[in-house]
Amino acid sequence: MTNSAIFVVLICTLMSSLIEANSNYDGKFESCYNFNYMTVECKLWNASAVVRIVKGPSQHFTLLFNTEDHPQELRKLNLTEGAYSNFLPIIQVVMTDVNMDGASGPFINQRHLQYVQLFNNSLQEFPRDFFRGIPNLRQLEIYYQNFSTLSNHHLSEISENLEFLSLTRSSVKNIEAEAFSKFHQLTYLNLSYNSLTELKPCMFNGLDSLVNLHLQGNKITTIRPGTFVTVLNLSALSLDGNPLDSLPQKIFTYLENLEFVTFSGNQNENTCKALLKGLNRLTYGFCGSIAITGPYKEVACDCRC
Ligand SMILES: *[C@@H]1O[C@H](CO)[C@@H](O)[C@H](O)[C@H]1NC(C)=O
Ligand SMILES: *[C@@H]1O[C@H](CO)[C@@H](O)[C@H](O)[C@H]1NC(C)=O
Ligand SMILES: *[C@@H]1O[C@H](CO)[C@@H](O)[C@H](O)[C@H]1NC(C)=O
Ligand SMILES: *[C@@H]1O[C@H](CO)[C@@H](O)[C@H](O)[C@H]1NC(C)=O
Ligand SMILES: *[C@@H]1O[C@H](CO)[C@@H](O)[C@H](O)[C@H]1NC(C)=O
Ligand SMILES: *[C@@H]1O[C@H](CO)[C@@H](O)[C@H](O)[C@H]1NC(C)=O
Repeated sequence: MTNSAIFVVLICTLMSSLIEANSNYDGKFESCYNFNYMTVECKLWNASAVVRIVKGPSQHFTLLFNTEDHPQELRKLNLTEGAYSNFLPIIQVVMTDVNMDGASGPFINQRHLQYVQLFNNSLQEFPRDFFRGIPNLRQLEIYYQNFSTLSNHHLSEISENLEFLSLTRSSVKNIEAEAFSKFHQLTYLNLSYNSLTELKPCMFNGLDSLVNLHLQGNKITTIRPGTFVTVLNLSALSLDGNPLDSLPQKIFTYLENLEFVTFSGNQNENTCKALLKGLNRLTYGFCGSIAITGPYKEVACDCRC
């Protein structure tokens, strides 16, 4: 190639990258500009919200939705079915402060989408239809919402391949029986800082792979016998910061893999021993205010004369 040909190629490449950066994705957005060299920020139509489109490794994109400083009513996004189906390949979606009521299948067939985070969206009910058609969702975090109930129906559109679910600080009072029953791959469940009052058998049915269960900072007074018999693979369980009355005697008995456990209540050394007997893998935690430093072992008497 001659020098001038190289120059022309360079100019064309430069022009096309400028044009790409300045496009608004075929009118999908009202306007877009280069936020930095990895990120384009676009203003959404008919809402005082913006989305930052961040290019990650392997040409997969993260979409960060956020509000501009405007009254609540203008924060509603128009997320109709397939709204982002034929968009760039998306790996992660984060929605902060925006209102997404009525969203229905906006990410259908985004098969690279693995991580979704919904923060402070004033949701009064679990946004079931938002998750329609996201086949490979693995990690879901939902904080600062206001739903009182979680049921099997609410979670029915979420991929059964989900591995990580954190649904905290969202005023959840009731979890219906079988709510999580299809999540056989889930290894982490965090329901901390909700308003749960009672744990029952059937609540955690189906969670065969669960390793981490966190329930701190709820209002749990009662744990029914048999609550944990369906999560035998637990290795970490936190129940601290709950007004627990007393615990059923054999509540932890079958959790042979338990390494970490912490729960509140006015426990004494004997109740701790009784509750944690036989848990040979325990390494640390708290039984009420008593620190657990290892498995409770029968102290053999020192019988030498
Ligand atoms: C914006 O809102 C108006 C009125 O509600 C509607 O007619 C129009 O189609 C909307 N524009 C887009 C791009 O959604
Ligand atoms: C929502 O978006 C659809 C197309 O994506 C458009 O037809 C409709 O007018 C929009 N509605 C509002 C209220 O902006
Ligand atoms: C949630 O959003 C409201 C306004 O909609 C704001 O006042 C509040 O600080 C936000 N809370 C968090 C935890 O982000
Ligand atoms: C949550 O919902 C309850 C009742 O449904 C309501 O009284 C309360 O104000 C709501 N809180 C927020 C932060 O939206
Ligand atoms: C569970 O979620 C709460 C609230 O988001 C967080 O503070 C806590 O660290 C989480 N617990 C674990 C063990 O991941
Ligand atoms: C239980 O945990 C062990 C080790 O963490 C793992 O190898 C095993 O596959 C798990 N069982 C199930 C049913 O997930």
